[in-house]
Amino acid sequence: MSASKLKLGVLVSGRGTNLQAILDGCARGEIPAEVTVVISNRPGVPALDRAQKAGVPALTIPHARYGKWPECRAAYERDLVRSLTEWGVQLVVCAGYDRLAGETLLDAFRGRIINIHPSLLPSFPGLHAQADALAYGVKVTGATVFFVDESLDGGPIIAQDTVRVEEGDTVESLSARILEVEHRLLPLAITLIAQRRAVLEGRRVRILDKSGGAS
Ligand code: GRF
Repeated sequence: MSASKLKLGVLVSGRGTNLQAILDGCARGEIPAEVTVVISNRPGVPALDRAQKAGVPALTIPHARYGKWPECRAAYERDLVRSLTEWGVQLVVCAGYDRLAGETLLDAFRGRIINIHPSLLPSFPGLHAQADALAYGVKVTGATVFFVDESLDGGPIIAQDTVRVEEGDTVESLSARILEVEHRLLPLAITLIAQRRAVLEGRRVRILDKSGGAS
């Protein structure tokens, strides 16, 4: 591991295919970062096995043990922040993490916490993005990586890419094509941040080219 690599803490809740894309990208040297810790808020999920297989420390901090949500959020996030800090995390990546970030997590990592969402935000925020896009009848949807703020999927956008909705698409077929895009987009966004080429300016994220100018 190189000292100059951006230290990532990845938050997960389930399957972990986006985590896998990050682990693979780091291992291949395509993402100039390293995953220092993976933390799940749900015990026994496949994402934890993926971390272990990659030799990355994998912890579980079960939010449910802290009491009723969202009243327990601050207590849960205090432990989460303590752990991320202990592991020296510089960028928190939510990769299929199913909790809304609260004040405690945001105060500690504002501007240094990102999330991926399976739609072209601001269209279709929330838990059922692919189904909502299909039901609405859009012809194009996609994926978005953004900086997390207090809103539901409403933070400044770092990267987006499109996916066409085909006749006969189901939630499953559409989700599968969006997921392929997610697996490219999240590593790209992490790379831009690691290279200091994603500059947060209020509501907008300016993307610099490799020479440091606006691209
Ligand atoms: C992805 O579709 C992501 O956009 C959404 O949750 C899903 C997580 O999938 N936030 P995985 O756990 O990375 O496979």
